[in-house]
Amino acid sequence: MRRLHLNEVVTRDGFQNEPAFIPTDAKVALIDELGDCGYAKVEVTSFTSPRAIPMLRDADEVIGRIRRVPGVEYTVLVPNVRGAERAMEARADELNVVMSTSETHNLANLRMPREKSFAALREVIGIAQGQVPVNVSLSTSFGCPMEGDVPQDEVLRWGARFAELGVRGLTVCDTTGMAHPGQVARLCEALQHRFAGLQLTLHFHNTRGMGLANVLAAVQQGITRFDGSLGGLGGCPYAPGASGNICSEDAIHMLQAMGYDTGVDLARLLDAARRLPGIVGHEVPGQVAKAGRCTDLHPAPAAVAELRDLHRPAGSTAGEASR
Ligand code: COA
Ligand code: ZN
Repeated sequence: MRRLHLNEVVTRDGFQNEPAFIPTDAKVALIDELGDCGYAKVEVTSFTSPRAIPMLRDADEVIGRIRRVPGVEYTVLVPNVRGAERAMEARADELNVVMSTSETHNLANLRMPREKSFAALREVIGIAQGQVPVNVSLSTSFGCPMEGDVPQDEVLRWGARFAELGVRGLTVCDTTGMAHPGQVARLCEALQHRFAGLQLTLHFHNTRGMGLANVLAAVQQGITRFDGSLGGLGGCPYAPGASGNICSEDAIHMLQAMGYDTGVDLARLLDAARRLPGIVGHEVPGQVAKAGRCTDLHPAPAAVAELRDLHRPAGSTAGEASR
């Protein structure tokens, strides 16, 4: 049974797109609940400008108050040196630095050209060196909603520049759900060939309904690390039409049904997922929390027993007929 590693991003990627502020207490309680579910990493929050992402303006307090479950890495998104300083002060287990592979999306999201982002992130990696591992998230790696195609070589080129700086991992993000499984399979093959020594994570959004198909394409290529968001919440505030990440519990349900070991306690996760609408104040896209697992069977209606009796072959007993 192949071991996969799941990361939960609901309180960062999921919440940053919510219209109504989620109280700090609710964020802390949810992270504590998720910490007990068996995730490899929980992306707690982001140390961005509170003006850019007001939802996460309580980042310092949230990370300061959560219970650190041994074995779970508590990671945070960091866009610049100021963010890295805050994250290290808060003793984050990992810095997840972010930039886009698309120039237009980088200007929209981070308000600077890619080269300027790279220079800032190089500085962050220098500051973190020897103290805390750094993961690089490359946004819009499967297409930009404003520029269109992002060539695979461009993604590999940015990945290589960061690999040279000694980062631990690379997260390849389909920020606005433009990836399809054929493209995912090709890029995953190239990534594993080029960056065999790095932790490789795939980050999909289900904007066009291809999220789980893309997970499957990646897992079949040998990728073992995935980001997901409880309930399928999420989206990038700087990407038109962006919607939720792949839903963690739906993805984990699929992978477990196929025999993969995700390390996650699905029953516990579903309990958390069922409480999520109460936290955000609206329905969420996830499906398994509503339908139940495919192994959760329902009692047959009373009429079924009567029909069985009615159609029992002459001479057989009720027990034989129902086999
Ligand atoms: N933490 C807290 N405050 C920060 C900060 C950080 N990491 N980075 C910048 N700021 C503050 C500055 O102190 C400044 O505040 P002031 O106006 O009160 O002096 C203000 O933000 C603007 O700073 P500046 O350096 O000019 O940054 P900017 O306005 O060009 O914004 C980013 C750059 C990257 C900080 C900002 O665009 C950002 O945080 N974007 C969020 C991107 C994101 O998370 N997107 C979704 C996930 S992919
Ligand atoms: Zn995302």
